[in-house]
Amino acid sequence: MEIRNKKTIVSGIRPTGKIHLGNYFGALKQIIELQNKYQSFIFIADLHALTSNLPPKELSAYSLELAIDFLSIGLNPKKAILFRQSDIYLVPELSWILSSVCPLPYLFRSHAYKQAKEEGKEINDGVFQYPVLMAADILIYGADLVPVGKDQKQHIEVSQFLAKRFNSIYGETFKNPQPLILEEYQIIPGLDGRKMSKSYHNTIGLFDTPAEIKRKTMKIKTDSKGITEPKNPETCNVFQLLRLVSTKKELETIKERYLKGGIGYKEAKEILAKNLIKFNKLFRERKKYFKKNKKEVLKILEKGKQKALKRAQETIRKVRKKVGIID
Ligand code: ADP
Ligand code: TRP
Repeated sequence: MEIRNKKTIVSGIRPTGKIHLGNYFGALKQIIELQNKYQSFIFIADLHALTSNLPPKELSAYSLELAIDFLSIGLNPKKAILFRQSDIYLVPELSWILSSVCPLPYLFRSHAYKQAKEEGKEINDGVFQYPVLMAADILIYGADLVPVGKDQKQHIEVSQFLAKRFNSIYGETFKNPQPLILEEYQIIPGLDGRKMSKSYHNTIGLFDTPAEIKRKTMKIKTDSKGITEPKNPETCNVFQLLRLVSTKKELETIKERYLKGGIGYKEAKEILAKNLIKFNKLFRERKKYFKKNKKEVLKILEKGKQKALKRAQETIRKVRKKVGIID
């Protein structure tokens, strides 16, 4: 049952590849934690993924896998509403309405557009419109809070801007959504020290097998200091990952050994691998279950669709009236 007096959170993840530790600690972990406190609308952002022009079979496989991943890391469908973005056909309608109040220069500053430009990628209109579609996602369910990784902050600012602008033209309609970004997990480094990202091929998968974890952790880039030399934990990629999966006490001991000298990078990597293997064990077991029970996953998505559609319909009804489209 949807409880209307709870605050609403909205978040989505694009199904463009395997989920990694950066996704989990930057965004997914807090989504799971917040489901107990808020009415959560969590979706597979397949429309946003379309801008990457993936082969269709990959997109549909990643979409189902992302739903399985959400459930495997603890999303509880009795509490949170899990659905596919594309199932809510009213989102593109709101996106169009919002694009009609969005000044063009505003979109040239958007993160997705600027990143694609920097990477020399071909920029399709979807990339350009990306933040407007995202605003439609956020505003259609009446989000109070939007839990995301730091790189999405600017996109949320576009949503805030469009909500205000729409309200100023057509009268009070949308709430002002706030980003929710965990300070301690702003940017999780990848194997090469750059931001962990699917596009850099430097990830440790959230569901990686013990063998994959061992192989990848050994590849993490470090400086060439010897075992006895003092080391700086703050600039060490291995230590930054150890922070995520070690107990406080263990981390303190490792930190001391870093500062004094006496721990080699090989040992630090072995501890990291051991902790990661322990950390994702339960996730891997649950994933095995859901992979065997795909029908159950599809049913959850269908139920989620019905609930999300209900909220979206309420908003669109109001919006159509405000702009002069007769329902
Ligand atoms: P990727 O860069 O691998 O394509 P996405 O852009 O799909 O990842 O990100 C999905 C979510 O995970 C976003 O909310 C993003 O901010 C978060 N995220 C991705 N990589 C990291 C990282 N290295 N550190 C912290 N958060 C991250
Ligand atoms: N743009 C987000 C990302 O790349 C995914 C996303 C789409 C999203 N719509 C959203 C996140 C609405 C939060 C709210 O990760």
